[in-house]
Amino acid sequence: MSETPKLTARNVDVWYGPKKAIDNVSIDIDNGLVTAFIGPSGCGKSTFLRSLNRMNDTIADARVTGEIKLDGEDIYAGTMDVVALRARVGMVFQKPNPFPKSIFENVAYGPRIHGLAQGKGEMDLIVEKALIRAGLWDEVKDRLTDAGTALSGGQQQRLCIARAIAVSPEVILMDEPCSALDPIATAKIEELIDELKDNYAIVIVTHSMQQAARVSQRTAFFHLGSMVEYGETSQVFTNPREERTKDYITGRYG
Ligand SMILES: Nc1ncnc2c1ncn2[C@@H]1O[C@H](COP(=O)(O)OP(=O)(O)OP(=O)(O)O)[C@@H](O)[C@H]1O
Ligand SMILES: [Mg+2]
Repeated sequence: MSETPKLTARNVDVWYGPKKAIDNVSIDIDNGLVTAFIGPSGCGKSTFLRSLNRMNDTIADARVTGEIKLDGEDIYAGTMDVVALRARVGMVFQKPNPFPKSIFENVAYGPRIHGLAQGKGEMDLIVEKALIRAGLWDEVKDRLTDAGTALSGGQQQRLCIARAIAVSPEVILMDEPCSALDPIATAKIEELIDELKDNYAIVIVTHSMQQAARVSQRTAFFHLGSMVEYGETSQVFTNPREERTKDYITGRYG
């Protein structure tokens, strides 16, 4: 879509052992906007999302073929530093998963292992900035030493977003980040996604058509391992090119 997409995937297949879960997907993901992945359960949204920062490497029998590039650089190249890649392409999961550590340490962990702070003062600043950007600072600034797990679900999810952005990623992948949250916490995360998008490329998997319509500018519809349609969100929702997209967004299946 743009001339210099942040992430490009070409002819990507993903296999679990002998089973093909993603079939020949090609997509460009742009900077400065939100791309939504939608489609019925089991169609491969999470599988494809995980291929974008090599999280599938952690699944024993998963295999990715084709080409995925970040700023033109092949992320599956043997020379790619996977730890550094996952800092550049951060991930937020469906279930908030704070580390069993303090709120402060949850956010400081990444910057520390990547050596982003020279000393305590700088680390304090990084943590504060990430929590402010994640919209959580005011709620936690007086309890930074409390356990991350002591927060509410919505706060935990914002803590996980703070953790992801603390290492200054370029891309943020979110797999159904609101599915465990109530409507108020969901609205907060959606607001946050909207604010963050100017500085990152954001990809969000969602089962909520309303959410996709609210937060994204691009939508990709997946079905049975294929990407059926990809375009501007308004077009995909109001004037889908493919019959299968239309059936899905009008609730005929899924
Ligand atoms: N670790 C795994 N090992 C084997 N097969 C898997 C694994 N993870 C996913 N699959 C299979 O790959 C296919 C795609 O699954 P995936 O989790 O990517 O779908 P999804 O679109 O994210 O679904 P949902 O909306 O339910 O989260 C499914 O058939 C699933 O059973
Ligand atoms: Mg999934």
